Amino acid sequence: MGGGGGGGRGVWFGVAAGCAAAACVIAAALVSRRVRSHRRWQRAAELVAEFEEGCGTPVGRLKQVVDAMVVEMHAGLASDGGSKLKMLLTYVDSLPHGSEKGIYYALDLGGTNFRVLQVQLGGKGSNILKQKVEKQPIPQELMTSTCEKMFGFIASKLKQIVEEDEESREGTIETRALGFTFSFPVKQSSVSSGVLMKWTKGFSIEDAADRDIVACLQEALTKEGLNMQVAVLVNDTVGTLALGHYHDRDTVAAVIIGTGTNACYVERTDAIIKYQGLLTNSGSMVINMEWGNFWTSHLPRTSYDVELDEDSLNRTDQGFEKMISGMYLGEIARRVLFRIAVESEVFGDVGSKLSQPFALSTPLMATMHEDESADLREVKRIVEQTLQIPDIPLKTRRLVVKVCDIVSRRAARLVAAGIVGILKKIGRDGSGPSTSGRPKGQLMRTVVAVEGGLYEGYSMFRDYVDEAIVEILGDVAQNIFLKTTVDGSGTGAALLAAAHLSNRKSYI
Ligand code: BGC
Repeated sequence: MGGGGGGGRGVWFGVAAGCAAAACVIAAALVSRRVRSHRRWQRAAELVAEFEEGCGTPVGRLKQVVDAMVVEMHAGLASDGGSKLKMLLTYVDSLPHGSEKGIYYALDLGGTNFRVLQVQLGGKGSNILKQKVEKQPIPQELMTSTCEKMFGFIASKLKQIVEEDEESREGTIETRALGFTFSFPVKQSSVSSGVLMKWTKGFSIEDAADRDIVACLQEALTKEGLNMQVAVLVNDTVGTLALGHYHDRDTVAAVIIGTGTNACYVERTDAIIKYQGLLTNSGSMVINMEWGNFWTSHLPRTSYDVELDEDSLNRTDQGFEKMISGMYLGEIARRVLFRIAVESEVFGDVGSKLSQPFALSTPLMATMHEDESADLREVKRIVEQTLQIPDIPLKTRRLVVKVCDIVSRRAARLVAAGIVGILKKIGRDGSGPSTSGRPKGQLMRTVVAVEGGLYEGYSMFRDYVDEAIVEILGDVAQNIFLKTTVDGSGTGAALLAAAHLSNRKSYI
């Protein structure tokens, strides 16, 4: 019995030992899986923390960016090539204010779409009577084609739209006048002529270099048999400023935050040292800063920005733009997420679309950032449909949102610093002596017109801009108003065409 009992105990012992061993193996596997998962998360969290640190924009750093912007503005106004900020003359020394009259067209070219507008102006005291807008995407292949193809395409669309418009109104206009918004750096020689300096935003049409852009368009219009005079050539910032000023006389600057980014403002001619002797009736001129190309070592630049620049069509150019604008924000986020995917495996298989440049657009990044659902289901949907990564857990979705937040917050705060830089340059930041004859501390109401898909469609971005302006300026921010204009870049060009053709005196 004893032996039998001992044998039974042995069997039991053997079974128990076997079970324990199996349990140990399972436990060990579980532990090692947990350890691996923990390590993966640790690595992912490290990468996010590193990225966040690299993108840091504490208020002290923003103030350094403000000061650098002012220094570069002075340098760019002192000599051509004196700064990465081009500070271009626009030959716009008068801004529309309401007495413009007649029907004008505008063509707005410079982003993902081009727009044709017909604007009917009612004259003294009346607002813009009517405005029609036709938006068309620019076929990708045209962006890197030839001048003839690009302008030929635009002229034929323009002709079609003008004819449809006139048919519906049952009447043609004797001399059709066009305001041409061309949103690239142009060295202007007059308000209606200018030579392209460089392409930006993914455009690259080589034979456009050194050619007068208005002549290119006018040639294409003639070929199409469309009788239309290009009255003014303006940057989109200038059009936006014109419409902003038309609605609110305290508007002194305009900023675009769309596919690209840029700003313009009203400068005194005596401050434009590089064109000494420049005379305008108003004593002022609108300066197209081309701030997308702004650079200072104070900008928070990460390895992702460096790599994005290296892979871009315009290396070493548009450094500020590459941290701010709609063309790049989604791509920066994608690069960060891809590195996390490779180094931590929290996204599972890396063979997803995440490895593909520009697979994540900025509008989708914004949608994920603004997802307010408890289970972040928009994030899940976009990651699944666009990046082809199925079923990521909530924790990973939160990580995606965090990355979007870092990218967007840095961009918005840099925009704020840029705006304050302009205000400081023109004495509207409350730091210098009052230029308005008012006692110090009593500041003038100052309006900045803002336009662009990124700004308009992304409320968290707008909030971050506002928040940073308040952080930098304190109470002075109460006098600063950012006002969104819609289709200002085009409508403003039509207004400027009207103002230019009626040849009135300046009244900035
Ligand atoms: C261009 C500017 C333009 C801005 C916004 C930049 O890439 O260089 O001329 O104003 O985009 O469209």
